[in-house]
Amino acid sequence: MNFNCLSSFCIGNTPLRKDLFLSGLLGCSVLVKEEFNSSLGMSSKDRIAFYMVKDAVKNKGLKEGDTIVEASSGNTGIGLASLAKLLELKCRIYVNKSCSEEKVGVLLNLDASVEKCENSNGLTDPVSTQSCALRYAKKNKNAVFLNQYNNVANFKAHFETTGPEIWKQTEGRITHFIAGVGTGGTISGTAKYLKEQNPDIQIYGVEPLGSVLNEYLKNRIMPSSSGTFEKIDGIGRNFIPGNFHPEFIDYIFQVSKENTFQRLLDYKEKTGFLCGVSSGAVLQASIENLSDSLKPTDVVVLLFPDHGSRYFRKLNTYERQLINHRIKRAI
Ligand SMILES: Cc1ncc(COP(=O)(O)O)c(C=O)c1O
Repeated sequence: MNFNCLSSFCIGNTPLRKDLFLSGLLGCSVLVKEEFNSSLGMSSKDRIAFYMVKDAVKNKGLKEGDTIVEASSGNTGIGLASLAKLLELKCRIYVNKSCSEEKVGVLLNLDASVEKCENSNGLTDPVSTQSCALRYAKKNKNAVFLNQYNNVANFKAHFETTGPEIWKQTEGRITHFIAGVGTGGTISGTAKYLKEQNPDIQIYGVEPLGSVLNEYLKNRIMPSSSGTFEKIDGIGRNFIPGNFHPEFIDYIFQVSKENTFQRLLDYKEKTGFLCGVSSGAVLQASIENLSDSLKPTDVVVLLFPDHGSRYFRKLNTYERQLINHRIKRAI
């Protein structure tokens, strides 16, 4: 398969912007890794889509005309669907029924087949995105399930690209890295690289209330109650993905969905920038937990995986609910 057609695309190599509002608020340098500038599918997941397809060609016999199959909260699927078009592959994406309409729209526009599933609770649940994707790939001869939850190429993409970019862009001055956790690939791969350069760099993950990764990080055993967690697109799990490596992570903050949406809307008012929902969770966790502990010399990097335009219906609905709630309280 010829990957030359990708040479004009910028997969990763995203800018690191100094955020003046957050730097003022937190009293140190706060830099935002703007992953929505990746030019293929406009998210951090372009990196892993590229790595997983390259690996599947090399090690799993993927060839032109075959179908790539994935369970995705949308962004990995969009990266894969773009690659599929360029590389003459077919693409089949299993999304949770809560996936944003905007992401489903982009997937369909890129000619991916989209299947909506009951949940994303991992391979032990027969109706999950992961189980449905695996079943399809097993039944269909020319289909390859990439499985970003356990595929080492996910971790490797961030170890080889995201980590080195951040280290270089901060000229080695980074002191804290904060990112949302879904498959764990972004935080684990980036953290391993950064800790190898300087083991004192603090690595903080972010997940929604009810997700299990924070407790697993503390005790290294699966919490007994692995029920539901608040839905924040792309982050949170009730199983431990193979790409989640707790040994590189210092702490995982939990945030509520309500505070996340409020923070995101507040940030939009203050800065004019509409970030994605999981970026809102990273903002919320940072402001809620780090405000009093940072030194003026600290250099904090927040990873924003995608842009708010992927969720504007959910954001509009939430903003309307908030306004109605305020009006009711005022009456
Ligand atoms: C918007 C968004 N944020 C955060 C994440 C979590 O990244 P990771 O799966 O590397 O942990 C994802 C993963 O799909 C995502 O789509």
